[in-house]
Amino acid sequence: MKYTLVETSDDEKDFGRKAADVFRQSLMKYADPYVALPTGKTPLPLYRQLVEDGAENLPSFSYGQIDEYLGLPAHHPKLFLEEMKVHLLGPLGIKISSSFNSAALSFDTPERDFDIAVLGIGRNGHVGFNEPGSDFNSVTRIVALSAKTIEDNKTDWNEALYGAFPTHAVTRGLGELRSAKSTILLVRGQAKAEILAQAFAGPQCEFVPASCLQAQPDLTIVADHSALSILRL
Ligand code: PGA
Repeated sequence: MKYTLVETSDDEKDFGRKAADVFRQSLMKYADPYVALPTGKTPLPLYRQLVEDGAENLPSFSYGQIDEYLGLPAHHPKLFLEEMKVHLLGPLGIKISSSFNSAALSFDTPERDFDIAVLGIGRNGHVGFNEPGSDFNSVTRIVALSAKTIEDNKTDWNEALYGAFPTHAVTRGLGELRSAKSTILLVRGQAKAEILAQAFAGPQCEFVPASCLQAQPDLTIVADHSALSILRL
């Protein structure tokens, strides 16, 4: 297994700066890159840095969504697409090439492979909403959220404001995410240290979905000191 490791301090600003450098370098490798970008807390320092640096310092690319909750009304503030618009796509005027309609009942596979997949990892090893047990060759599909994912994602979900927490989501499959020519995995915090070590120091195994990334041809892991505390032992 071969990957480039970019270690940052636990400081969010340091993480954001280094992740932004890695991302920009990756964008330069492709003409008109098609890029998958994650939601969640982990990438926020990266998005803040990119917005701070401004559109004039960001090579152009188009965005493809990785996953989305199902059953939420259009423009619901907790839709991943809405969060991406607020944090990154809107301020930088980034073109949306593919996104999911939360009310749809079926979903198409992507029209083209991603050039770059920027990914996060869940505490249970999920990538996108490919929960443990997902086939490494899986494609776009509707999935039931695992109890652990619901527990993690519910922490900033106010039921009085947002309604009931979704039980299902749509996700690009591991097979589609693995088709990306370049992969950047973002990992922050002690809570991810154990699963990061399992994913990259253990065998490839469908019960740790992120372990499928071991075979990626051009993989960079950007991780803070806490997240690396077990992997580097
Ligand atoms: P987080 O989510 O960045 O909010 O920890 C990551 C994930 O679930 O993939």
